[in-house]
Amino acid sequence: MKNIDSVKEYFGLDIGNSSIKLVQLKAGHPKPELVTIGSAQTPDGLIGRDTPESKREVAKLIVKLVKDSQVTSNNVIASLPNSIVSANIVRAPKLKKQELDQSIKFQAEKYIPIPIDQAKIDWAHLGETPDGKEVEVLLVAAPLEKANKYLDILQLAGLELLALEINPLAHIRCFSSVKNSRYCIVDLGMSETGITIVDNHIPKLIRSVNIGIRNLISNLAENLNLPPDQANNYLWRLGIGQSQMQSQIFSSVQQLSDTIIQEISRSINFYNNQVGAEAVKKLIFTGGGISVPGLVSYYSGSLKIPTEYGNPWQHISYSPSRKQYIDKTIPTFATAVGLAMRNLIE
Ligand SMILES: Nc1ncnc2c1ncn2[C@@H]1O[C@H](COP(=O)(O)OP(=O)(O)OP(=O)(O)O)[C@@H](O)[C@H]1O
Ligand SMILES: [Mg+2]
Repeated sequence: MKNIDSVKEYFGLDIGNSSIKLVQLKAGHPKPELVTIGSAQTPDGLIGRDTPESKREVAKLIVKLVKDSQVTSNNVIASLPNSIVSANIVRAPKLKKQELDQSIKFQAEKYIPIPIDQAKIDWAHLGETPDGKEVEVLLVAAPLEKANKYLDILQLAGLELLALEINPLAHIRCFSSVKNSRYCIVDLGMSETGITIVDNHIPKLIRSVNIGIRNLISNLAENLNLPPDQANNYLWRLGIGQSQMQSQIFSSVQQLSDTIIQEISRSINFYNNQVGAEAVKKLIFTGGGISVPGLVSYYSGSLKIPTEYGNPWQHISYSPSRKQYIDKTIPTFATAVGLAMRNLIE
């Protein structure tokens, strides 16, 4: 991998289960500026497949997207889906980088659910522990073959990978405008729901639930005996609410939605109950699913925590000609924007 600090131009790439998103930014004052943006839908199930053909197909989609969006660099920062990574905050002694490397590798076995020799492991320094005696480190691991799949795709697309990140770090860059606030980011994706608890810009808990909007659509199709396209259409257009049709949709998706709510609630309670932790004060929703009418209100009503829709563009300036596209796609771009911000903010 190239040294990220020596590179001037690069773009952020989010290979999501339903669409691939890219964002290129450049330094600017007072805010980084948008250079270009683009997205491409991916055929159903393609991203989940692991065959050589599927990798080539994804690479082709990326090449076309990069070209159509007129990206000016082939340097990329990409993200791994939450569902394949395990992320843990671990304590380590205060050591120099190289010694810390060794110490973390030695400890990693305790924390990651796969054998060390079959895992791609990375870590990021988060800061000192509250008592100042040790440091906190974000330890991230992914099964080697799954991580390699993304490396292969990017190589097939002719891109130079600068860094492979996890979505929550990208989200925090977009949403961390309130210092010291404790909040929970909920990413309502198509195939998974990401849950991240953040304290003072640091991810304190990272989880992912294997239920996404796609599963709500399947349940709706099954319960109301609808073709998938129509179920899709009903969910995005009508959503959940008071009308007779909306109540039927609600009954079909309530069980899955409640499972997600329970997981968010469990994560927040787990965090709040830790020694020294102050309670989570806010929920920030992002991801395509926030466009389903009534869904976020149902979640926030059940969790009884003040809620905001995340705006990934709050720290970025862009020309008025981009406004319409950006406004329309706000829910889905947080990961790509945050990846693109990596070298442009402190
Ligand atoms: N109003 C809408 N009508 C129809 N579909 C929509 C609407 N808003 C969002 N979507 C769908 O949501 C998807 C985007 O959601 P998002 O980008 O969060 O998913 P993803 O990142 O691809 O999935 P995951 O995070 O699970 O990998 C779009 O690709 C589109 O299919
Ligand atoms: Mg996503």
